[in-house]
Amino acid sequence: MNDSYLNFVNSPFGGRLVRSLGLPKPEVLRRYRADRPEFDGIVALGAAREPQLLDSFADVIRRIGITTVAHESAAPWIALAQRHGLMTGRFEPVEPGQTGRVGALVFDASGIADSSQLEPLHAFFHDTLRSLGKCGRIVVLGRVPETCASPRQWTAQRALEGLTRSLGKEARRGITSNLVYVEPGADARIEATLRFLLSPRSAYVSGQVIRIEAQANAGLPADGSSTGIAGSDLTNAAPSSSALHQDDYGLGANFDWTLPLSGLRAVVTGAARGIGAAIAGVLTAQGAHVTGVDIPSAIEALDSTMRKLSGTALPLDIAAPDAPAALVDAFGEAGIDIIVHNAGITKDKTIAKMTDAAWQNVIDINLSAQERIDDALLAAGALREGGRIVCVSSISGIAGNLGQTNYATSKAGVIGRVESMAAPLRERRITINAVAPGFIETQMTAKMPLALREAGRRMNSMSQGGQPDDVAQTIAWLAHPGSAGVTGQVVRVCGQSLIGA
Ligand SMILES: NC(=O)c1ccc[n+]([C@@H]2O[C@H](COP(=O)([O-])OP(=O)(O)OC[C@H]3O[C@@H](n4cnc5c(N)ncnc54)[C@H](O)[C@@H]3O)[C@@H](O)[C@H]2O)c1
Repeated sequence: MNDSYLNFVNSPFGGRLVRSLGLPKPEVLRRYRADRPEFDGIVALGAAREPQLLDSFADVIRRIGITTVAHESAAPWIALAQRHGLMTGRFEPVEPGQTGRVGALVFDASGIADSSQLEPLHAFFHDTLRSLGKCGRIVVLGRVPETCASPRQWTAQRALEGLTRSLGKEARRGITSNLVYVEPGADARIEATLRFLLSPRSAYVSGQVIRIEAQANAGLPADGSSTGIAGSDLTNAAPSSSALHQDDYGLGANFDWTLPLSGLRAVVTGAARGIGAAIAGVLTAQGAHVTGVDIPSAIEALDSTMRKLSGTALPLDIAAPDAPAALVDAFGEAGIDIIVHNAGITKDKTIAKMTDAAWQNVIDINLSAQERIDDALLAAGALREGGRIVCVSSISGIAGNLGQTNYATSKAGVIGRVESMAAPLRERRITINAVAPGFIETQMTAKMPLALREAGRRMNSMSQGGQPDDVAQTIAWLAHPGSAGVTGQVVRVCGQSLIGA
């Protein structure tokens, strides 16, 4: 849907008017486009004490091919970068309007072991933030607090969340700010996440904390007996292996980062339109073969979406009693690597006015159907070892929402699925994550009353709604072979919405 305020304030006349009236001016976000370089601008690097992630970071920088400059807090970087054969220099502040744009600020805080060592964060962001260009990126790297050796270290690492989230709120100008906690032993797994967070693909993801785990992998027991997935008969499962886990630690020198999903088979529910159609589009663009599922009455739109993507259309009501069996029949033999549970509905009413059918219908389509389908696919071994499950939740599921008791219950339940299934699925190297979109410009939000719609659009650090593509790009990162260390997480795609923050 068209955001006319955003368009107006970015016109010459509108820009002058909002400046003189002191009104907020949302930035036109720089989003991924295949015809533009994915990474441009310089990365300014900061660090504290004995940074532990610089070697892994240098590997990523070398493969991406971007230029770095080191702030004085990151003195070890210069020698280390030279050892890795990277061009680098010292950070010099850039005045607005000068060339030599800083595109990203990255701080390695992994060596901070005590709250008294947090000062370099202040020095770095104090000196560099004004040099960061529009739609720039801030990424702070730390250690998962729960894995820290002492309460002091845990405390100091946990403190990074407050800094990162505040930076997102202060920086504005379309700048995103995110924190990545890396478990010891998972340093070589940061690439897919760093690439996502540094690129325009994460335009509407800000204020998030992402954990990368080392995932000590038990491997699938020969008889499939100890997975502990409630309600699933896994003893019959004989999952074939997905290309997704071929190389668990790093993806090898020949990995094609431009087509990361090449050769993989994905299923997207609710793919006829809106966010689902965008997900199908992005997964296809990254090399996957996509089967789009939608209700039989949406067959025309589904056919047209899938034809453009050379994908497969599968008309199916996911809540129908025979839907799990139909999906197993469709994919059982060849197997699938990725399933995206996107289909969802709203039937809004305050609870006193809500019919039993409206409650039941929303819970069934948005939540129970996903459970039945995954149980069936897992029991049949149709979701291959090393596969990816990505669910679409909502910030309503985090914060609750007036008139949405049914919807918020279903979307909070989706978060419960992710939290509860991550551990048992590790044995099959399958990850399960959710995205929680905020206000996204689709037919669903176009139906909202004007005042609510405007509030939803503006109450976030970007002062605007997101696009279906923002959700789709986030899902593609979670589905990426390099995201093996990301599981059991809920990533908000909400422009750092104030709701539920
Ligand atoms: N638009 C937003 O701002 C927003 C915010 C948070 C979460 N979400 C979630 O994102 C997902 C997609 O939302 P959207 O805005 O694109 O909605 P949409 O209504 O435009 O699309 C949903 C699609 O799901 C399909 N669908 C519904 N019931 C189905 C069923 N029983 N079987 C198969 N397909 C079914 C619909 O036919 C439709 O094509 C939903 O889960 C929604 O709850 C959206």
